[in-house]
Amino acid sequence: MLKNHNNNYKFNIDKFYKNYLKGPRIFKNRDALESSYVPDKLPHRDTQIKDIIEKTACALLGDTPQNFLCYGMIGTGKTVTIRYVSQKLAQENSKIKPSWIYINCNIFSTPYRILAHIYNTISRQDKIPPTGLLKDIIFKNLIRLLDSKFGNSIFFLVLDEINVLADKKGFNEILCDLIKLNENLDNCKTSLIVISNKLKFWENLDPRIISNLGEEHILFPLYSTDQLKDILIERSKISFLKGVLTKEVIPLCTVLATMKYGYAQKALELLRRAGELAERAQNKIITVKHVRKAQKELENDYIKEYIKNLPLQAQIILLSIYLISKFNPEHTIISGDIYNIHSKVAELIPGVRQLTRRRIADYINDLSLVGIISAEVKSMGHYGRTKIIKFDIRMKLIEKALVKIDRIQGILNYKPIFL
Ligand SMILES: Nc1ncnc2c1ncn2[C@@H]1O[C@H](COP(=O)(O)OP(=O)(O)OP(=O)(O)O)[C@@H](O)[C@H]1O
Ligand SMILES: [Mg+2]
Repeated sequence: MLKNHNNNYKFNIDKFYKNYLKGPRIFKNRDALESSYVPDKLPHRDTQIKDIIEKTACALLGDTPQNFLCYGMIGTGKTVTIRYVSQKLAQENSKIKPSWIYINCNIFSTPYRILAHIYNTISRQDKIPPTGLLKDIIFKNLIRLLDSKFGNSIFFLVLDEINVLADKKGFNEILCDLIKLNENLDNCKTSLIVISNKLKFWENLDPRIISNLGEEHILFPLYSTDQLKDILIERSKISFLKGVLTKEVIPLCTVLATMKYGYAQKALELLRRAGELAERAQNKIITVKHVRKAQKELENDYIKEYIKNLPLQAQIILLSIYLISKFNPEHTIISGDIYNIHSKVAELIPGVRQLTRRRIADYINDLSLVGIISAEVKSMGHYGRTKIIKFDIRMKLIEKALVKIDRIQGILNYKPIFL
C-alpha cells in the first residue's frame, strides 16, 4: 500500500487491481481509437482511396507511379488514407513488392534533417549526422543506397505535413532534388507523395515542383457532422464491447468536435477518453456524463499545451498575473501592476530582458484574444483609461501549466515585496 506523509494508508494497490480485474469491461480493442490505428474501413474517403489506388497500382508491375500531392485541413484523414492504401498495396500478391518510407516533417526542424533521416532510416544506421555534411554528398550516398537496397522495385517516399518546412531555407532545393532522384537512379525508382494540411501551401513553391506534383492534387474535404458520426460508429464497433455505448454518446462527441474543434481526431479522442473515464469509475456503460468530463479534460490539456508553447515573455506575464492573484487576491489588477511585477521577475531569470509598457500591452492583448485572460478597458476619469486584467480560466489550471515550465517553476512561490 502507498502511504502519505502522515503514514495513513491512502491507496490500496492490491485492492485496486482486484476490483479492476473483476470490474466491468468497456474496451474490446483500446488501440483502435489511437490515431496511429488503420481501420479496415474508411467511411467517406472512397473517392480519395480510388484516386490514390489508381495512381499507385502500376508499382505492382514495376512501373514508376507519378508523384502527387494530397491536401486538406487537419484531421481530414490524409495520413490514415495513405497508410491504408500502402497496406493494401503490400497485401497484393505481386512479384514486385514496393517499399515505403513515411516521414512526418513536423518532427524535423530543417529540410537537411529530413534528408539525413531518409538515409539513416533506409540504411538502419545513424551514419549521417544531423548537421554538417554537404547536401550533395548525402544525395550521392542516398542514390547509391537506394539502388543497392531496393533492386528493381519501387520505393514510395511519403512526406507528411510538408507545409511546416515550406518557409525553411533550402526547402525548394531539396524537394527539387528528391523529385529528380529518378534521373540518377540506375535500378530502383522512387515515387514521391507529398501531404499538406495548408490548403494554399504550394503558392510559394518552385514552379518545377508544382508541375511535377501533377495537375490534379487530391483534396480531402472537411467531414460533415453526419460523416463524422459514421466514422465514429465504425471505429466504436471495433473498439468497444457490445452494448457499452449509450445512444447519445456518439452524437454528442460529434457535435462537440465539430463545434469546438472540427475534426475527426478530436471526436475520436473524446470517445476514447470517455471510455477510459467510464472504465476507471468501474461503470458498465459510457454516458454523456463521461463525454462531458472528457471534453473538460481535453480542453484543459489543450490550454496547458498552449501555455507551454508560448514565448517565455508571455509566460512571465502570466506568471506576474498569477503572483498578484495568489498573494493579493482582492487586488484589482491593472496593466501597471503587471509591468511592476514583470520587472522584478525578469531580474530572477537569467537572460530575460525587462519589457517596455508598450510590449507588455501587446502581450496582454494577445493573451486576451485567445481567451486566457480578460482585459476590460475602464475609464479612470482624469487619469485616462486602463485595462482591468483577470484570468479567464481557472487559476489552478494556469498553475499546472506554469509548473511545467523549467525556467518559471522555481518562482511560483516568489512574493515580490510590494504584494
Ligand atoms: N474516414 C475515416 N474513417 C475512419 N477514421 C478516420 C477517417 N478519417 C480520419 N480518421 C481518423 O481520424 C484521425 C485523424 O485522421 P488523420 O490523422 O489521417 O488526419 P490528417 O488529415 O492526416 O490530419 P493532420 O493534417 O492533422 O495530419 C485518425 O485517428 C484517423 O484514423
Ligand atoms: Mg496527418
